[in-house]
Amino acid sequence: MIRDLEVRRHLTVTRLSVLAPGLAARHDVREFTRRWARHGLGVWAIEADGVLVGWVGFGRRPGWSPLTDVEIGWLLGRPAWGRGYATEAATGALEHAFAHGIEHVIAVTSPANARSLALMERLGFERGEQRGDTVCATLSAARFRAPAARTPAVPAP
Ligand SMILES: CC(C)(COP(=O)(O)OP(=O)(O)OC[C@H]1O[C@@H](n2cnc3c(N)ncnc32)[C@H](O)[C@@H]1OP(=O)(O)O)[C@@H](O)C(=O)NCCC(=O)NCCS
Repeated sequence: MIRDLEVRRHLTVTRLSVLAPGLAARHDVREFTRRWARHGLGVWAIEADGVLVGWVGFGRRPGWSPLTDVEIGWLLGRPAWGRGYATEAATGALEHAFAHGIEHVIAVTSPANARSLALMERLGFERGEQRGDTVCATLSAARFRAPAARTPAVPAP
């Protein structure tokens, strides 16, 4: 997925993940496993019809919010865009985090990453500080639980 230029357009990607994706994937799996063990939060695979289409989950990004350093991230392979998979997966991930005592989550992206920003908005994130080419948005557990804060991707018929 990461070899697709469109997928990595707004990401900081290591040369390893482009040149040796198998090696990079093994490194990522070790890192994701470590996060679960250390923080009780980590990354989930997103599957559709039994096929891996992306991932969603949590890492730590200090220095952006006085409220939290818990950051949510997401990535889908391009054929999986536009089907609501990221909204569904991120909603599940946030439900998990907020049910386990996390009070705030941040999401960080480039202001040019329209799809990621739209996803944040659907989930109820509030856009905050921008530093250079990076913008940070925040979501509280209380706001997430208030249905009015979230906008459905597909309007009800
Ligand atoms: C960011 C990213 C995960 C967003 O993916 P996405 O497909 O736009 O988001 P969703 O999966 O929630 O899909 C929403 C779209 O599916 C549509 N959709 C179709 N069926 C749907 C359903 N049942 N439920 C919800 N939405 C549905 C929505 O209308 C919306 O369409 P639109 O894009 O035309 O507005 C994806 O673009 C990506 O992986 N980008 C590359 C990696 C990246 O930049 N990650 C972020 C780093 S900060």
